Amino acid sequence: MNILIGYASAHGSTAEIAEFMSGIFNERGFKVTVASVETIKLIGPYDVVILGTAIHAGTWLPKMVDFVTAFHDALADKPLYLWVNCIRVLEAHGYDHVIEYYMVHDLLKGLDVREITAFAGKLDLQRVDWNERWTLAARYDGTTWPSNFDGDFRDWDKIRTWCEKIAASVSAQA
Ligand SMILES: Cc1cc2nc3c(=O)[nH]c(=O)nc-3n(C[C@H](O)[C@H](O)[C@H](O)COP(=O)(O)O)c2cc1C
Repeated sequence: MNILIGYASAHGSTAEIAEFMSGIFNERGFKVTVASVETIKLIGPYDVVILGTAIHAGTWLPKMVDFVTAFHDALADKPLYLWVNCIRVLEAHGYDHVIEYYMVHDLLKGLDVREITAFAGKLDLQRVDWNERWTLAARYDGTTWPSNFDGDFRDWDKIRTWCEKIAASVSAQA
């Protein structure tokens, strides 16, 4: 079985999650391609598509929106699994908020979305530029100042568990 993991990352932490996921599927004998979404030209050869994006200003990165828009018809035939990577999930009721408000639900209509989830991401404020920092402070809609979340909050066990569930599910359907 052929899996595509497509990611949209601004500062690399979502890309690292995609690579980590790839290792888990490889261990289980799946053939996996990992690619930044703007480099993906074809999805026909893949049996399953897993997409992941960082969140900026309360929504997917524009390159993920562009990818799903461009490949919408082709994606409709594929079992699709989606994750987002952000800091809002670290707040009280953050997970529900992210699932309800950070997803581009209109774009997901007509797609065979099997699972959507949100993972805690990584924010390195030393590495974001001033324009981004302003955007973050001005647009972040949480109840606490985003600089409280300066760090790496990725929970690799949680990510592994999600992948194992997908692996079991697609194997059962094969
Ligand atoms: C400019 C900027 C805006 C962000 N806006 C949000 C936001 O609105 N909500 C949120 O939960 N996280 C937000 N984040 C946090 C990122 O989604 C999180 O750090 C993610 O792990 C970054 O992934 P990346 O390293 O692949 O770019 C923002 C980060 C930056 C740099």
